[in-house]
Amino acid sequence: MTTWGEYYHGIASQMALFGESNRALVAAAELRPGMAVLDLACGSGLTSLAALEAVPEGLELYLLDNHPSMIAEAQRQVGDRAAAYYTADAAQVAALLPERKLDRVLCNLSLWYFREPEAVLAELRKVLKPTGRLCFTLSGTYFNTTGGVVSPQWALMQALHRRGDLARALPGPDRLPNQRSIEGTLKGAQFKPFHYAVQAITADAPETAPGGELYNLMRLYPALPGADHQAGVERTLAVLPAVADEIAALKPRWRTVSFMAQPNIDPGEALRLRFGDRLPGDRLPGVPG
Ligand SMILES: C[S@@+](CC[C@H](N)C(=O)[O-])C[C@H]1O[C@@H](n2cnc3c(N)ncnc32)[C@H](O)[C@@H]1O
Repeated sequence: MTTWGEYYHGIASQMALFGESNRALVAAAELRPGMAVLDLACGSGLTSLAALEAVPEGLELYLLDNHPSMIAEAQRQVGDRAAAYYTADAAQVAALLPERKLDRVLCNLSLWYFREPEAVLAELRKVLKPTGRLCFTLSGTYFNTTGGVVSPQWALMQALHRRGDLARALPGPDRLPNQRSIEGTLKGAQFKPFHYAVQAITADAPETAPGGELYNLMRLYPALPGADHQAGVERTLAVLPAVADEIAALKPRWRTVSFMAQPNIDPGEALRLRFGDRLPGDRLPGVPG
């Protein structure tokens, strides 16, 4: 029987949305041999595979996901090129990794969908080096990528709501999180945001036809519920032809955004990190002042 991890990998690895967002994330992160890197919410390992394509040797890679079959699939894909795999919730990171060890945390299309992103940010701050970087992407379905551009997934959910198939509509673009609100949350969690970019994703096949990005995304995350995942997928795919024109009329486009941030270290914390409890000027025991 196909596991969820295998199923996810078979589809996501063919999608421009995951391929292009992961490549852009890795390029922005400026990885180098010798770096310790966490792939957070790694799924089947697509971010790590992109990282290894950019830097084939010398990365110390850690992969974490809370779904056991995702971790099993990531192990199949990445194998012994990673230092360790963790099946754990993102909010447990600091209990698993040594303090201030990581040069980079990479998190593709996941961070803002955790139940409590702020709690995860607090954990990540503990495991990143003071010079380390948190690098993540978000999708334009749940983020305002500016200009009122909506994603095909947003347009679909809107159409389903109008038909009465979905009780709740997604908020309009102006009520979705945006660059300012996300950077505000990063600052509140003692991070210094220093990079923001919007990326357009190329999607050639018609969205609602087999092989289209939206069609494939619905095979992973169906918009309509069913008795089980498969039933939800079948129900969602069956309705696509009926809403295809309505979706196309909104001229939706796939876009992702990427952010990078560094731990914001205040002068007192910087001194403590450098000298521990022995502040400069303190006498060392047994050394005449
Ligand atoms: C959209 S997938 C993205 C996977 C991967 N980053 C990629 O680019 O293919 C979201 C992933 O987040 C994982 N996830 C969701 N909530 C999580 C949590 N609280 N802690 C760790 N992983 C989580 C899911 O199991 C899933 O693998």
